[in-house]
Amino acid sequence: MGSLDVGIRRGGLGNTSRRDAWWLYPSSVFLGLTAFVVYATWAALQGNYFYFHNYLSPFYSPLLFWSHGGIHSWFGVPPHWLVNISPALLILWAPGGFRVSCYYYRGAYYKSHWADPPACAVGEPRLKYRGERRFPLILQNVHRYFMYIAVFFIFILGKDAWDAMWFRTASGGREFGIGVGTLVLLLNVVLLAGYTFGCHSLRHLIGGGRDKLSSQPGHACAYRCVTKLNERHMTWAWFSLFWVAFSDLYVRLCAMGIWHDWRILR
Ligand code: FES
Repeated sequence: MGSLDVGIRRGGLGNTSRRDAWWLYPSSVFLGLTAFVVYATWAALQGNYFYFHNYLSPFYSPLLFWSHGGIHSWFGVPPHWLVNISPALLILWAPGGFRVSCYYYRGAYYKSHWADPPACAVGEPRLKYRGERRFPLILQNVHRYFMYIAVFFIFILGKDAWDAMWFRTASGGREFGIGVGTLVLLLNVVLLAGYTFGCHSLRHLIGGGRDKLSSQPGHACAYRCVTKLNERHMTWAWFSLFWVAFSDLYVRLCAMGIWHDWRILR
């Protein structure tokens, strides 16, 4: 295997002997994550235009409380102290916490947003390494618990994709169909499943923490599948991040009457 020696230079932020475009990755991550956080925060605070007929924005799913419109919520009308709160804010802490504490994203935003360090062999602002063994970063360990909730969300989003195939008829019934929005929501759950089922914590749970897998064919098979997804975890992370935002945008613009949802199959 080839190797490249880069002399270490002590010093402040960005000090390095590297001559490659090391800044490209942290800058791209900075732009991508910041754009997502800004859009997701804005969309979650709106509290409107989050469904269009049988399409529900993934930022608002599961819809725990909702008081009007043609879409059903889990618990019906919100209690009076919740009426002014966007339904997205009640649930987004779960996928948000899962993403923020993801092993891949941690490595990415420590570089891009905290410059800690910005890249390998590049100077950082702090001289002391605190690591993730102390407060507050030790809290990142909750990732393994968020993982259970995230898996649950995949099934909910799968149900949303299924519902997106059933369109209301003029007589009040339902008929099977495929619209562009159906495909958007279907791809959304596929990408999110690829990301979630490739999680490092899930890989550990499913077999990585065991000494011997060969005597447990079921575990060994599941472990191989999760490992396959885990090998491309970064790719799944970015595609699913982009697509979940686009899915909200698609539903939102259809609900606002700006985009038209084409029916591909009736
Ligand atoms: S490590 Fe990325 S989702 Fe668990």
